[in-house]
Amino acid sequence: MKKRIVVLSGAGISAESGIKTFRDSDGLWENYRIEDVATYDAWLRNRTLVLDFYNQRRRQLLACVPNEAHFQLVRLEEKYDVHIVTQNVDDLHERAGSANVLHLHGELLKVRSTKDETIVYDWKSDLNEGDVCALGSQLRPHIVWFGEQVPMLERAAEIVAKADILIVVGTSLVVYPAAGLVHYTDFAVPKYVVDPGRPSMAAVQNVTYIEEKATTGISRLVKELLEEA
Ligand code: APR
Repeated sequence: MKKRIVVLSGAGISAESGIKTFRDSDGLWENYRIEDVATYDAWLRNRTLVLDFYNQRRRQLLACVPNEAHFQLVRLEEKYDVHIVTQNVDDLHERAGSANVLHLHGELLKVRSTKDETIVYDWKSDLNEGDVCALGSQLRPHIVWFGEQVPMLERAAEIVAKADILIVVGTSLVVYPAAGLVHYTDFAVPKYVVDPGRPSMAAVQNVTYIEEKATTGISRLVKELLEEA
């Protein structure tokens, strides 16, 4: 029976693929106000601005490729049962080859009906006013906006609760409920935080900080974990 490794990833793991994080200097939220582009109210108030914001991010994503950190996490699957729980909306974990990826905050390359949220389409081009679902209603980005429910949270908590090892990489752990997932593992479970910053893992036991960029920190950690498996 393979041990289970759960990886909680955030924007930092995609930074070295050229995708901006949110809260680093020159991050996405330095150039846009969240309330203008990433809330349901923004969608109601200024649909064109919201569509354009995600069109720009979708175009940028299609020009990016996974980096060594994404690929190293795939190598763990040789000896571990690996589950990725990501806050990222990019598909870089999937493109690198990770088998089990759960997106807490939605997926940039998908869109959904505004009439029936179960109607979801793959979508790699711009999404514009007038692009409608089979029921004839406007399509929206398949993204969890601030203030909206996080439908995959319960599933994510079940996955994290069964971790034998937890890896937290590239997340500032400031956005809940995602950040709260680190408390779902047993205190004895070894936890590794790979991040040049030092996100707060307040009150969490058994944490090892690897204060390096994802490409170097994850590579070093994966080497160790494969050797000890
Ligand atoms: N390697 C590893 N970590 C990095 C790197 C790197 N090369 N560069 C930056 N980081 C770290 C930063 O130190 C920070 O801790 O990545 C983290 C990025 O934090 P945020 O920008 O807040 O991104 P994230 O935690 O994923 O944001 C969570 O907020 O805006 C919402 O929905 C959005 O999913 C997002 C959520």
